Amino acid sequence: MDLFEYQARDLFEKHGVPVLQGIIADTPEEARAAAESIGGVTVVKAQVKVGGRGKAGGVKVAKTADDAEAAARDILGLDIKGHVVKRVMVAQGADITEEYYFSVLLDRANRNYLALCSYEGGMEIEQLAEERPEALARVAVDPAVGITLEKAREIAVAAKFPAELVDKVAPVFVALYGVYVAEDATLVEVNPLVLTGAGDIVALDGKVSLDENAGFRQPGHEALEDKDAADPLEAKAKQHDLNYVKLDGEVGVIGNGAGLVMSTLDVVAYAGENHGGGASAEVMAAGLDVILGDPQVKSVFVNVFGGITSCVAVANGIVAALEMLGDAATKPLVVRLDGNQVDEGRAILAAAAHPLVTLATTMDDGADKAAALAAK
Ligand SMILES: Nc1ncnc2c1ncn2[C@@H]1O[C@H](COP(=O)(O)OP(=O)(O)OP(=O)(O)O)[C@@H](O)[C@H]1O
Ligand SMILES: [Mg+2]
Repeated sequence: MDLFEYQARDLFEKHGVPVLQGIIADTPEEARAAAESIGGVTVVKAQVKVGGRGKAGGVKVAKTADDAEAAARDILGLDIKGHVVKRVMVAQGADITEEYYFSVLLDRANRNYLALCSYEGGMEIEQLAEERPEALARVAVDPAVGITLEKAREIAVAAKFPAELVDKVAPVFVALYGVYVAEDATLVEVNPLVLTGAGDIVALDGKVSLDENAGFRQPGHEALEDKDAADPLEAKAKQHDLNYVKLDGEVGVIGNGAGLVMSTLDVVAYAGENHGGGASAEVMAAGLDVILGDPQVKSVFVNVFGGITSCVAVANGIVAALEMLGDAATKPLVVRLDGNQVDEGRAILAAAAHPLVTLATTMDDGADKAAALAAK
């Protein structure tokens, strides 16, 4: 889950990362009041979960409260790369001397954490990485050790910070790592981290992605969700701890494991061209309930490879789910089971002989049948 800048700012503040005052506003009048309360120069910033707000006219300096109100009037409703601005943050204006870049993220490929840092800010990081890769330090961070003050200094030195600044930025890197760990984030990015005229280091912009798998131990994170933006079916699935990804097309797919579901989608798409077009009973019922509630879905393809969850459990789950759903189950279901206890699982479905269920032996066969049923 990606956070808005103002939410990232709040988390930074909570964990001791130096930030400036920031107040959210949903109307130009609220923006004026925020600017009055902050006093002096403010910056009105679009709150959208997309980069490049500044270039799109979503970040405006306001010398007075009048200016802040006018800036908010311009920015609210602005479409930034398909994201309509519904809220701005009025931030205290910083006297910027220099801009830097820092991030720490989950490095899946290397099963590690990675810190990225540059003394040269003021540039899009993707552009910097491409055009001047030597200016972007990449320092591996051992999760068992984390970013200690010593490690933070190593990162600052690798990023070519001059000696007198290393001691200034290092504690801020440590605090940002504190956000990353304490909040179960997969990304904490600051662009720009600035040096002010008064000689302070301040995080002026923040991007945080939280790991939803850690939701069970992060009770505060639910409140950070952007309820307006969520697809209603995706939200319903989430209530049952399922992931539902709304896509185009007419064959709904239920599977275990993102990899299997993705390859199932590929096979269904391929089959569709030829036609012109842990699984307990509760989990299966909830999954079917969500997918059957999607008016776009014409048929459902359940493709499960039994591993820890045996095909017997999945088959029983499907039979029980159809019983639970009763008349609510209206769309044809193609089921392909394989793996652990496959013969027993298939036998259970064959014995149940539910009129909506068609058995398939292979993934291709199942995709073909599901696509054919959707095309009917
Ligand atoms: N509080 C502030 N005071 C003074 N200048 C600011 C402030 N916030 C942002 N700026 C200036 O505006 C520039 C862009 O701001 P920011 O980084 O927040 O948005 P962005 O980079 O356009 O958006 P994104 O990071 O989402 O791509 C900063 O590099 C900085 O120079
Ligand atoms: Mg930025």
